Amino acid sequence: MDEAPLPHASTPDGVSALRHLQDELSELERAGLLRMPAAAPPVAGMLVLCSNDYLGYAALPWSSEGGAASGAGASRLVSGTHEAHLMAEREIAAWLEMDAALLFSSGYAANVGTVTALARPGDVIVSDALNHASLIDGCRLSGAAVEVVRHVDVEAVESALVRSRGARCRWVVTESLFSMDGDNPDLRRLRALCDHHDAALVVDEAHALGICGPRGAGLCAETGVRPDVLIGTLGKSLGLHGAFVAGSTTLRTYLWNRARSFVFSTGISPMVALASVDRVRRASADDAARARLAMITRQLRAGLHALGAPLLPGSSGPILPWILKSPGAAVEMSQRLAREGILVQAIRPPTVPAGTSRLRITASASLSEVDVVRALAGFREALR
Ligand SMILES: Cc1ncc(COP(=O)(O)O)c(C=O)c1O
Repeated sequence: MDEAPLPHASTPDGVSALRHLQDELSELERAGLLRMPAAAPPVAGMLVLCSNDYLGYAALPWSSEGGAASGAGASRLVSGTHEAHLMAEREIAAWLEMDAALLFSSGYAANVGTVTALARPGDVIVSDALNHASLIDGCRLSGAAVEVVRHVDVEAVESALVRSRGARCRWVVTESLFSMDGDNPDLRRLRALCDHHDAALVVDEAHALGICGPRGAGLCAETGVRPDVLIGTLGKSLGLHGAFVAGSTTLRTYLWNRARSFVFSTGISPMVALASVDRVRRASADDAARARLAMITRQLRAGLHALGAPLLPGSSGPILPWILKSPGAAVEMSQRLAREGILVQAIRPPTVPAGTSRLRITASASLSEVDVVRALAGFREALR
């Protein structure tokens, strides 16, 4: 697991460039920020309250019916495009009522590839302060000027758009359900601002897809907002791995040509692409799982509230952030919970801002009411 003592370093100490690695790891350890590679999967029997498997699909068995190949064999632009990719892209586009979609091998690759392909020097990107690292890296690599604005502050977005009037293009980049704070931006107001200022709206729906909106089509669908670029992953509610970008057919062709993480990378496994067709169909029909997720979320939230756990007030969905401030306090609480058989990893900087280390507790439709009772009993013990 995460917090074992530093293993005996195996770095060849004659090479000074590599000797620095151990020094830096020791510094991280002193600051309480060291994460150790897991030595084994989480212990069997642990109650997992920190995955993104919101609908409980990740453990579903994969049937190879349909006979898709295991590997794409090459970049999609070379010989790596299979029928399964095209089927998945059509299914995803139809689900989200967008014109087209393009699969990527991960959400990280989708975000870095898309933002760097679209924005360039001379542009301004207005980016929410709590956007995911993959969006931040895309912004940095794009060469555009980046205006980082206060979290979910629409007025701050407006001021940044007013200030950046002379830019070649403006891009407003946000998540729809923030992965660490579990809250939402006002997408309707962002859309209206983008329309007014001729800026493009880029929305990462990684955590909202599957869990909200009609047929689980996400927060854009729920609020009636059509983003210019919609990013989603297959690795969270859909329980697989990989990601996609949805938008116009022009956007798809542009990314096919210009998104370097797409062009210069082996296509996502056709087997996974085919599985995603099934998962999208399942998720879009699965209002029962969404209702169950909402019920489990309510029970966990109410139980934690009753125990006096200070959950972030803006969070409303299945992400329940319990702020413990210091990395040490978050790690200690995570260890106490582990002793109660509950797996909730401590989330520390740089994943979250300094002073906001936390337990990021997540609900899943796969949890039973007995699990909720067990979880709350474990939290009660850990708080003693
Ligand atoms: C908002 C957001 N976008 C993108 C990603 C990256 O997705 P993936 O895990 O598929 O690389 C994540 C993953 O945690 C995320 O939370």
